[in-house]
Amino acid sequence: MITALRFRWLPAFAATVLAVSASAAGVIKVGEFASLTGKEAAFGQSSHKGTLLAIEELNASGGVLGQQFELITEDNQSKQGESATIAKKLISRDKVVALLGEVASGRSLEAAPIAQNARIPMVSPSSTNPRVTEMGNYVFRVCFIDPLQGRLLAKFAQSTLKAKRVALLTSVSSPYSVGLAKFFKEPFLAHGGEIVIEQKYSENDKDFKAQLTAIKPTHPDAIFVPGYYTEAALICKQARDLGLTVPLFGGDGWEAPQLIEIGGAAVEGIYFTTHYSPESTAPAVQKFVQDFRTKFAGETPDAMAALGYDSAMVLAQAIRRAGTTEGPKVRAALATTKNYAGITGVITIDGQRNATKSAVVVTVQDGQFKFVETIAP
Ligand code: PHE
Repeated sequence: MITALRFRWLPAFAATVLAVSASAAGVIKVGEFASLTGKEAAFGQSSHKGTLLAIEELNASGGVLGQQFELITEDNQSKQGESATIAKKLISRDKVVALLGEVASGRSLEAAPIAQNARIPMVSPSSTNPRVTEMGNYVFRVCFIDPLQGRLLAKFAQSTLKAKRVALLTSVSSPYSVGLAKFFKEPFLAHGGEIVIEQKYSENDKDFKAQLTAIKPTHPDAIFVPGYYTEAALICKQARDLGLTVPLFGGDGWEAPQLIEIGGAAVEGIYFTTHYSPESTAPAVQKFVQDFRTKFAGETPDAMAALGYDSAMVLAQAIRRAGTTEGPKVRAALATTKNYAGITGVITIDGQRNATKSAVVVTVQDGQFKFVETIAP
């Protein structure tokens, strides 16, 4: 089922430019598939806003190859089984030259084979599961991958939390969660850590008391929940209700205002890794934060917004370097992205089409996200 929501973002002045110039070369159509509604809407909306800001800035500065960008965004409602259909539609009907998306690894995995078969480059802003870019040489990302995130989380648990015995609560229906659990466990065990119990849940579950009740008597030093914010917030709440007082921590799937809205006092003192901090004093980050706030009613951009922005900018500079919008040439240009100074750090695309970058650790203090530390890869 293709969803009804459909947006086109073409600045008014671009239409004017096209109207006055009979020789206008047209527009560069970029397709975005995003979770604008549904369970991960906070991620999808943030990422989309960052993407939109990038496209508008690019167009305002004259576009690329003398053409303006047109961003065509389709909502997959955070549902499984929508993204492949949307990718097909964007490619065959709208004739987009590239795809941007998705935040969630599971949904990027659905669209990637479509992009690959059509030889249309796809850039995921923030899907961190390694399998995403393994789908083919047309699939890229601008974020770090979970083997790195898992290793940094293991290091953080051991050195900062001083946790030796950790309980693991994994969402078995999310490729991201399953992957991150594994990539945490391996280095954690290798460095003398112990996983005292492993419990499972599924996306959309609301009641985690059985799992938490099983965890309690194992007396872990900390509980690792590699999942998304909705379930993570409920898990924190129910853990505190059951008298579990040890730290809970997660990965980049935790970063959404909903974590605090749903979790309330129960998420005070939690930790998670993510891709960037708006508290960074780097001039480029501060400019991005200001521009984003101006455009979106004072909203502070989170990691998804910054990655959405970087994904569109990396694609645009690849099209510029390729000198054409032809898929194979844009693909080749993306593959040679080197030292691109992004908002989320310096982006160099490696041989596996991934970016190796630092991670940031964030906590919740007095109902606010607070930067803790940067961990280098
Ligand atoms: N990295 C997560 C995934 O791959 C999704 C995510 C994106 C989480 C951006 C936070 C920020 O599924």
